[in-house]
Amino acid sequence: MPMNNPSNKENNTSSEKSKDSSALKLISKPVTAIILAAGKGTRMKSPLPKVLHPVAGEPMIVKIIDQCFEAGIADIRVVVGHGQNLVKTVIEGKGVHFCVQQNQLGTADAVKAADVETIEGDVMILNGDHPLLLAEDLKNFIKEFREKKLDLAVVSAKLKDPGDFGRIVRHHGILKAIVESRDASSDTLKINEVNTGIYLVNSDVLKDELPKIQNHNSKKEYYLTDLISISIEQRLRVDAIIGTPSAAFGVNSQSELAKATKVTFRRKNQELMEDGVLMIDPKTTYIENSVKIAGGAVIYPGVFIKGKTSIGPYTVIEPGCMISDSIVEDSVLIKSHSVLESCIVKSRAKLGPFARIRPDTEIGEEAHVGNFVELKKVKFGARSKANHLTYLGDAEVGTDSNIGCGTITCNYAVDKKKYKTKIGNRVFVGSDTQFIAPIEIGDDSVIGSGSTITKSVPAKALAVARGKQFIRENYISIPASEAELNKEK
Ligand code: UD1
Ligand code: MG
Repeated sequence: MPMNNPSNKENNTSSEKSKDSSALKLISKPVTAIILAAGKGTRMKSPLPKVLHPVAGEPMIVKIIDQCFEAGIADIRVVVGHGQNLVKTVIEGKGVHFCVQQNQLGTADAVKAADVETIEGDVMILNGDHPLLLAEDLKNFIKEFREKKLDLAVVSAKLKDPGDFGRIVRHHGILKAIVESRDASSDTLKINEVNTGIYLVNSDVLKDELPKIQNHNSKKEYYLTDLISISIEQRLRVDAIIGTPSAAFGVNSQSELAKATKVTFRRKNQELMEDGVLMIDPKTTYIENSVKIAGGAVIYPGVFIKGKTSIGPYTVIEPGCMISDSIVEDSVLIKSHSVLESCIVKSRAKLGPFARIRPDTEIGEEAHVGNFVELKKVKFGARSKANHLTYLGDAEVGTDSNIGCGTITCNYAVDKKKYKTKIGNRVFVGSDTQFIAPIEIGDDSVIGSGSTITKSVPAKALAVARGKQFIRENYISIPASEAELNKEK
């Protein structure tokens, strides 16, 4: 597309080879990113600052910061304002600079707040509400901006439905201005090339032209978009770089947030499948970006995997499971509707259906944890089994032990403290046993069903603690039973 080509700037006539090497040199020059994140996000109708709304589990602003870093941008300035304390808390420690915009007077005013006087070199300005941007896109924009030797570029995109985006106005193909949809005529609204809200600008141009922006528009705001027409008037080299529709995707409402989330989950599933993960139905499988899954793992529909989770090869996760911040090794079978949180599951273990594994639990190799079993802070040994209706909390179970149906560790006492149950190796715990912690059960011991165990049990011992069975024969046929009862009264 033709661009503004002022007479005081010459086209590059050097050979292809020297063009290539100079492009490489330019790419390695530093870029400062200014991310605008001070707006209230009124259209979100939520008390949470817009840029903190999560997209597939990650606040939008975090996603954008990470992509900037990945694109090689080291100096990142985030302009905060509305809800700034909350925004700062979330992104503190990410190594970005905070700049405060006191009053939200528009996007140009937000850029002013980023201390532009202290910037040298090139600047990339981005909106904090474009969560689908990828580092690759950013690198391409920088490359094109530098190759074309522009002073200012706006990244545009062609959309079927340009909606509320600012329109890119051209005259005979040459960029003239950006017009906000709310200020546009019906003819201008028909334009389908829009402003993505991403700009590249030489810092000297920014310093010179930014103060010239006025607030003569329907919102009485300082629009950064006006930088385009102002710089064109100054006969600077200004052009639009055509970006992808996903770079243009801005979140201004809850339904746009849901769309961004959907696209992000789809992208992750696509990547995982390319790495050899078997997915029965990627449309209904939700895996956050931070999750790692090895090739050969099988993920059924309706599975949600979050946080810092890793899943090993040949592991199968059946429908309806929710797994967060957990390490699941290889060849594990997690049957449907199991919930795992901050735990470790070793090779070839079997869990569920309906298992609940709570934080600080480690399940040993080839162990079985069955339906309606809840484990909290448990080290559960290799090949041990707790197959039905059991609660183990603050416990250690050795290897090859069997925990019978309905076993409970009574770990919480009236003093509101938690106490530990330690069960050794090869222990047989009969069904419906309660362990009153603190307590230790020795190796190779046997606990009779229905016992309430209050004292520690030595190795190889049998412990039974239940009421003796009482039998009265012919109980039902005693005819005088009522009379006897009356006599007792
Ligand atoms: C803006 C552009 C529009 C473009 C669209 C792309 C302007 C005037 N319009 O519109 O041309 O098509 O982005 O998504 O720039 N912000 C501040 N301080 C403020 C105002 C906004 O930091 O005073 C931040 C917001 O937090 C947000 C970004 O700037 O991250 C964009 O603001 P928003 O209100 O969403 O602008 P749009 O109406 O989407
Ligand atoms: Mg927006």
